[in-house]
Amino acid sequence: MSASPRASAPDEAALDPDAMRQPLADAWYCVARSEALKPGALRAVELNGEQIVLGRDASGAPFALRDRCPHRGMALSKGRFDGAALTCPFHGWRFGTDGRCRDVPTLSASDAADFSKIAVQRFPIRESAGFAWVNPFLGPASGSDVPALPELGFEAAGRVVIELVVEASYDLTTLSLVDPGHVAFVHDSWWFRPSKELREKVKTFTPTPHGFTMTSHATTTSSPVYRLLGGAPAVEIEFRLPGVRLERIVAGAKRVANYTFATPLTHDRTLLTNALYWNMPALNLLKPVARPLMRQFLTQDQQVLQHAQAGLDRKPTMVLFGQGDLPSQWYFRLKREALAAARAGRPFVNPLVTQELRWRS
Ligand code: FES
Ligand SMILES: [Fe+2]
Repeated sequence: MSASPRASAPDEAALDPDAMRQPLADAWYCVARSEALKPGALRAVELNGEQIVLGRDASGAPFALRDRCPHRGMALSKGRFDGAALTCPFHGWRFGTDGRCRDVPTLSASDAADFSKIAVQRFPIRESAGFAWVNPFLGPASGSDVPALPELGFEAAGRVVIELVVEASYDLTTLSLVDPGHVAFVHDSWWFRPSKELREKVKTFTPTPHGFTMTSHATTTSSPVYRLLGGAPAVEIEFRLPGVRLERIVAGAKRVANYTFATPLTHDRTLLTNALYWNMPALNLLKPVARPLMRQFLTQDQQVLQHAQAGLDRKPTMVLFGQGDLPSQWYFRLKREALAAARAGRPFVNPLVTQELRWRS
C-alpha cells in the first residue's frame, strides 16, 4: 500500500500493483437488492474472496454468515432455513442466524461432546437505499470510522436496478466511477451523449466526509435524460469510499438519483450495481425503456474495463495524467488515508481540498 500517486507528474503516478488490487477491508459493500432477501430463503454471494450466505429471519431482520459449515465445509446456502435456523444439508447441524451451533442431531444423548462453542463466522449487515450491505472485515475494531452507507433521501416512486459482473480488479472498476475522461469515448450512445465533440468542462470539487463531491447547475442540458426533467436541474455527484458514486438530480420537487456501487467479489472480479430512482410516478412508464439503456451503459464500462484489465495483467502500471485524472488520484489518496487511519486507530481525515478542475469531455 506504499506507492500510490502523490502528485500529477506522470512518473510519480505509477501505481504499486499490490495497492491496485486490494479493496478497503473495513467498509460496507453492496451485496444484494433488499427484495432479493426473501424471508425463509437463503442467498449465496461472494464478497472480497469470502463466500457468504445471506438471509432474512422470520422477523424481517437480515443476516450474513460465512457460507461454510464448520463440520466439513459444506455450503450452508445449499441447506434449509426455517426463518430461525439454518440446517446444513450434509449432516444436519443447525445454526442460528447469529452463527451459533444450535443442534447436532447425530449426537447420542450419552455423548458428552459440547456443540455450544461451535459457530459460523457472522458478518455485520445493514440495509439502506433498497440494498443490503455487508462489512467483510474480521480484524479487531480499529477505532477509525468507516464511510457512511448511502441513503436515498426521498421516497422513491420507482427504481430500476442493473447488476453486472466485471472481470477486472476493484480499483480499476472503481476508477471508472470518478473518471470524466472515458465518458465521451466509452458512453457515446445517442441518448446519453448525442454530440461527439469534446467540450471544455470546469467543475468545482469539494471534500466530503469520505470522498468528494462535484456540483453543477444544469449546464449539461445536452443529455436527453436531463432534459426529461424539465427546468434547470441541479446535479450533484458524490464519490465516497469504498466505491460509491451518488448522482443526485433535483429539479423543483422532482428527484432522480443515479447510484452506482462497486463490490469486490474476488481479486479480479467486481460487481457493478447501478440503481436509478425517481419520485415521479409517471416515470414508472419509462421502466421498460430505462432498463435496456442502463444495461447498455454499464456494459460499455464492463467491456472496456475487461480489455484494460487484460493490459494491466501484462504490466500493472498506470499513468494518471492531467486534471481529468485528478479524481482518480484522489481515490487512491482517500484510500491510503483510510488505511493509515485504521492502522493508527485514529479518525479519518480527508486529505483533499476544494479545487476547480478543467478537462475536455
Ligand atoms: S458438513 Fe455441515 S453438518 Fe457436516
Ligand atoms: Fe462509465
